[in-house]
Amino acid sequence: MAQTKTYILGIESSCDDTSAAVSLNTQILSNVIATQKIHEQYGGIVPELASRAHLQNIIPVVAEAMKLAGVTLQDLDAIAFTKGPGLLGSLIVGTSFAKALSLSLNKPLIDVHHMKAHVMALFIDNEANRKPNFPFLCLTVSGGHTQIVKVSSFQKMEVIGSTIDDAAGEAFDKCGKIMGLSYPGGPLIDKLAQIGNPSRFQFAKPKVDGLNYSFSGLKTSFLYFIQAETKKNKEFVQENLTDLCASLQQTILDILFIKLEKAVQQEGINEIAIAGGVSANLGLRDRLNSYEKTKGWKVYIPEFQFCTDNAGMIAVAGYYHYLASEFTDLSVYSESRISLF
Ligand code: KG4
Ligand code: ZN
Repeated sequence: MAQTKTYILGIESSCDDTSAAVSLNTQILSNVIATQKIHEQYGGIVPELASRAHLQNIIPVVAEAMKLAGVTLQDLDAIAFTKGPGLLGSLIVGTSFAKALSLSLNKPLIDVHHMKAHVMALFIDNEANRKPNFPFLCLTVSGGHTQIVKVSSFQKMEVIGSTIDDAAGEAFDKCGKIMGLSYPGGPLIDKLAQIGNPSRFQFAKPKVDGLNYSFSGLKTSFLYFIQAETKKNKEFVQENLTDLCASLQQTILDILFIKLEKAVQQEGINEIAIAGGVSANLGLRDRLNSYEKTKGWKVYIPEFQFCTDNAGMIAVAGYYHYLASEFTDLSVYSESRISLF
């Protein structure tokens, strides 16, 4: 029997990326992302500017996604959008747009949890044809979250470890700012780290209970170290930039993997995935891939375009909600903080 064709429009606006995507079942037909450059000059996201940029971007981004997918609004089976967590003003733009579209087209509306959608990016069709089997552990690492999630089914996702302060992406970005790199520092540190010496500088690793993380201490010790060295040599950062990036990245990855390995042992699960913006990091991807050989883990990594914020993951999460008949209605509202799963 031929498989039913389900077209979902996904809309993502939780932070500083306005994105729209169209999925056909678990295949992504289009994934358009307008990244807001305006925040670079401020060294971080300015929420009011983010929501204004979403307002400007949302109509052209959705139009482009529909055009690239080659489907009409009438072809859509449902409209999925990010309800939260995220910046409230940003979320409201996507939520309001999705509600208006659902009302005018008389199509079902699906609300999606942003962090759950990062995990669902693993179920997007990919060239390697690799998708995790339940149960699996997912290290979800982004600019706002760092979590180890035990995924037992599409419905059952349990956070078994998370950060008690800063997220891993935040540690990358804040340390990038300390070194004078533009926002977001994560991708730049990743690039520079590739030609640096990861063993050159040592930074302290936090001691946190259980499977939880902490990154604020690393940021502070990195700041004090840079201040002390710059006092002795004004050019310290410029002269040692690649080694600083490689050593910092190595420390962040060590911290991430110590707890991930502990979770693997504790849960007795060896299907391991990563997701979220920091999963675009080449060092993280390489180290996880190497564990397939050295530790016998089965590893799963989303394609680059589905690691950082994107609407493809919202469309696919929406598809699974659609299959389970999980819809919302026009009374739905954005929430900047939503209990995790
Ligand atoms: O998932 P995401 O796009 O947005 C949130 O939901 O937060 O994650 C953004 C975070 C930023 O902190 C950014 O610096 C980090 O992901 N990031 C990276 C890389 N690409 C993005 N961090 C390290 N290496 C990368 N290649
Ligand atoms: Zn995200």
